[in-house]
Amino acid sequence: MIIIGNWKAYVESEKKAKQLVASAKRAAASYTGVDVVLAPPVPYIGLFTTGNKSRVVFASQDLSETTGHAETGEISAALLADLGVQYSILGHSERRARGESDALVSEKVRRALAQGITPIVCIGERERDPEAGYLYFVREQIRSVMEPLSPKERAQIVLAYEPIWAIGKTALEAVSPTDLTEMVMYIRKALGDFMPRKATNSMRIVYGGSVDATNAKVLATGTGIQGFLIGHASAEVKEFSAIIRAVS
Ligand code: PGA
Repeated sequence: MIIIGNWKAYVESEKKAKQLVASAKRAAASYTGVDVVLAPPVPYIGLFTTGNKSRVVFASQDLSETTGHAETGEISAALLADLGVQYSILGHSERRARGESDALVSEKVRRALAQGITPIVCIGERERDPEAGYLYFVREQIRSVMEPLSPKERAQIVLAYEPIWAIGKTALEAVSPTDLTEMVMYIRKALGDFMPRKATNSMRIVYGGSVDATNAKVLATGTGIQGFLIGHASAEVKEFSAIIRAVS
């Protein structure tokens, strides 16, 4: 299982950031079968990646499609790779809500891969319509990420299924295990347009949207996912460790 903690903008002090990292490192060292990835706000990342020898590795919450040009305020993939960042969350719905298109997300994915950073690409529908148009929407998001990539690059992607209607709520409002199982099967089928069947089975798919220590285990069991992308619960010291324990 891969457990990714997306701190978003919840963490606004170095003290809290250090507490969260220390506690995640303790949990990662105590329980087996869990790879922990933390995505702090960029200004804190270098505090933790420099000389990092622990099993906890780091992600950025985004990266820029720019490459060292006159682009005020942008954070490039090369800069993040230089800092020791290993993953990048791309196309999060909160970024898409600020105007990121599928094309821009696809460009960022290619920038990340070119720097050896593993993209965690977020997909997911705003709502579930009775006509099941949301399935087509998710399929299109997958197509726009996968189509431009080589087979080798496709295999490196981590897909995060994050239905927007389930983000930032309580565990009771997360996706149901049955619906998650069906969606994961659908995603693997859609991936079949871009890779052999065998390869679709080994693609890493994680779920995000109101996961906490109370629902992590049930959502991880038999649904076909390889882990979680966790938002608000990852910014709580005890809750995040409890999730790691629950899925270990
Ligand atoms: P949440 O967020 O866990 O707060 O629902 C998940 C995400 O947006 O990555």
